[in-house]
Amino acid sequence: MVQRQFPNPRELAELMRFKKPTFDAKRRRLDAALTIADLRAIAKRRTPKAPFDYTDGAAEGELSLARARQAFEDIEFHPGILRNVPEVDTSREVLGGPTALPFGIAPTGFTRMMQTEGEVAGAGAAGAAGIPFTLSTMGTTSIEDVRAANPNGRNWFQLYVMRDRDRSYELVHRAAAAGFDTLFFTVDTPVAGARLRDTRNGFSIPPQLTPGTVINALPRPAWWVDFLTTPKLEFASLQSTGGTVGELIDGMFDPTIGWNDLDTIRAMWPGKIVVKGVQTLADAKELASRGVDGIVLSNHGGRQLDRAPIPFHLLPEVAREVGGDLEVHLDTGIMSGADIVASVALGARFTLIGRAYLYGLMAGGREGVDKTIEILSKQVVRTMKLLEVQTLDELGPQHVTQLARLTPIARPMQDAAESASSTAPKTVRAPRATKPTAAKAAAAKPAAKPRTAAKS
Ligand SMILES: Cc1cc2nc3c(=O)[nH]c(=O)nc-3n(C[C@H](O)[C@H](O)[C@H](O)COP(=O)(O)O)c2cc1C
Repeated sequence: MVQRQFPNPRELAELMRFKKPTFDAKRRRLDAALTIADLRAIAKRRTPKAPFDYTDGAAEGELSLARARQAFEDIEFHPGILRNVPEVDTSREVLGGPTALPFGIAPTGFTRMMQTEGEVAGAGAAGAAGIPFTLSTMGTTSIEDVRAANPNGRNWFQLYVMRDRDRSYELVHRAAAAGFDTLFFTVDTPVAGARLRDTRNGFSIPPQLTPGTVINALPRPAWWVDFLTTPKLEFASLQSTGGTVGELIDGMFDPTIGWNDLDTIRAMWPGKIVVKGVQTLADAKELASRGVDGIVLSNHGGRQLDRAPIPFHLLPEVAREVGGDLEVHLDTGIMSGADIVASVALGARFTLIGRAYLYGLMAGGREGVDKTIEILSKQVVRTMKLLEVQTLDELGPQHVTQLARLTPIARPMQDAAESASSTAPKTVRAPRATKPTAAKAAAAKPAAKPRTAAKS
């Protein structure tokens, strides 16, 4: 029989630990976010549909992005035990300079449209956290203003080669003069990908006011106040005549760029050069032989070619084959520090975050980007501690299994060609992921997307 008593006021008082209320609504919002998905939810509430979808969406059926994220969800970690790891060191050298964490901010266009602080928030937050910031050719803040926002940190510049070559070269020279130490040459955008959400939303640059956008604006007044009371949204390095993103990209950027353009740009750039948007082992090898400093395995966050290779699946083989010659970086689909740790374990020297940064920006400007970095950083640290590794260099393939979901079917022509030449490198098959056991396969979520048939 339970013995009962009158509630003791002193015991009751001990239970009542009310937090000091925060009257800063933004702070309250951000404090409640524990994951990047939480920041995305806040961003979606606060940002009009067209700019939110422009950021969140991908090309065609959005399969490239969904598969890349799924691949990260399908990671299985293998921790060490009893290794005495009180603290971890998340820093390393990347492209000849330091970074406090194994990720940096990816180049994104139209950034001030998502939230008016735009690149200044990104560059400032990156500088404060000791990680690199990358400014896009399609950025909405000038090279010099980014430098002013991040005067002591590392700034990188991303180049699209324009039909008017001289304008591209002028940007290269300006970035070098402003002390940017690395040039990212994006090569996966010969034409614009089909971003169907943008077409359905009637999305244009600058955003147009239609009856639909006005109705959508009503519950999001803060975004509109910001938008209308701050300097006009413009490209800092391009002259836009208005229109859709596709019209802009197709009109300005040159689909005929080739290896000679890489050589030309390399010759005029004094710092490190990285090719962004590499999607096959064969191209990675070609770039290694041409002496570039790094590559980014990336399908542009699924915004260009849909059904593109999953960068995380390409990673082990590419890192093994060319990782000794150049730095292998990776992006697309990163939503957690665990994704970053797994990428480092499988051979990525560094990773880039696109949407994770933009969700933070839309959720709370500069403080929101700080929050993105804080969330990812805590997740990196916690994952390393749970794996019981002290440094990034200690991470290795023994820590991660990629559980197989989409396994490529063998291609008979290719297999015949490979066996005919015993010395030919295997350039086509994706790396074999370790097959899950029956129990793990049963526990795994069923694939939402159509499967390719399993290789026999
Ligand atoms: C809104 C948006 C704009 C982007 N603009 C550019 C760009 O101008 N240049 C570029 O090289 N990549 C651009 N990207 C691709 C990113 O640099 C990066 O490859 C991609 O976002 C990584 O995937 P994640 O968003 O899943 O992290 C953009 C991505 C997004 C989401």
